[in-house]
Amino acid sequence: MQDIFDKAKEVQTAIDAESPANSEALEAFRIQYLGAKGLLKSLMAEMGKVPNERKRDYGQLMNSLKQAAEAKYQSLKEAFEEKEQSAGALAIDLSAPGEPVPLGARHPVAVTMNRIIDIFARMGFSVADGPEIEDDWHNFTAMNTPEDHPARDMQDTFYLVDAPGMLLRTHTSPVQARVMKSRKPPIRIIAPGRVYRNETISTRSHCQFHQVEGLYVDEGVSFADLKQTLYYFAQEMFGATKIRLRPSFFPFTEPSAEMDIWLGTDTEKDYRLTKGTGWLEILGCGMVDPDVLEMCGIDSKKYSGFAFGMGIERQALRLYEIGDIRLLFENDVRFLKQFRSAM
Ligand code: DAH
Repeated sequence: MQDIFDKAKEVQTAIDAESPANSEALEAFRIQYLGAKGLLKSLMAEMGKVPNERKRDYGQLMNSLKQAAEAKYQSLKEAFEEKEQSAGALAIDLSAPGEPVPLGARHPVAVTMNRIIDIFARMGFSVADGPEIEDDWHNFTAMNTPEDHPARDMQDTFYLVDAPGMLLRTHTSPVQARVMKSRKPPIRIIAPGRVYRNETISTRSHCQFHQVEGLYVDEGVSFADLKQTLYYFAQEMFGATKIRLRPSFFPFTEPSAEMDIWLGTDTEKDYRLTKGTGWLEILGCGMVDPDVLEMCGIDSKKYSGFAFGMGIERQALRLYEIGDIRLLFENDVRFLKQFRSAM
């Protein structure tokens, strides 16, 4: 009988003496004493052999054994977990390769715009900027399109309800007026940017697109300068190609022309893009109307100038052989990431 009590006491001494050094040793401790086949369970199983009058003592001894073992297990478990956590925070492998940063891609319209800027920069043009929310005077009046002028109908836009006289610019031409009013000739600028039109011809048409404006004002600027400048641009942008200038009308230039580049109709894309003519219209241009110069404070007897304005989207379609202009606006990443290597 005494044996059982002695055995239990031995276990108690053993538990007190145990000091597992890590979580594996602690787990072994748990299995040895507290597990389903552990020492405490087998000591409990001895209860039947204890005489009735000593059962109470034995039960108490068992309880205190169990409590001691559980307390030791719990406190060591917490201590080890805390230690592992703080070790984990420091366990950074500084030599491991970094997480890859996903690289974005420039939009083909932006790439095309940058190419245009680059070509004109080589001819001494610098970039000028103007607001997209423009006033009526810069957008229309200074561009020789007074109120009630029929040309206004060609460029309907969005007007700001809370700011009478303010509108979303319909073209980049108002930047011409802003630059001429604030600088003296020689002036040689290009002005890229967003423009807006209220065109609800179809649900697919877009009310927003991009243009690049050009302006050159100095003494003795002629139509020959205009033609050569644009010819150089077309060569640089599209490779060796023919250009043609067709007489046209713009209120702010006189004479005015539209420039086409020759693509031919050999490929289906070129056929579609040129509507079967082989010619792709890319810009409007002309000699700055003397009235415009005067309205912007430049002496039209001393100075002359040329101007041009081109849409960017169509050039992007041509440069990247994109078959459908809607792709440019849908922002489908699978489409856009194809231009990752472009400048
Ligand atoms: N602003 C015209 C448009 O949006 C394009 C244009 C034509 C601009 C002739 C010019 C120019 O500077 O001289 O249709």
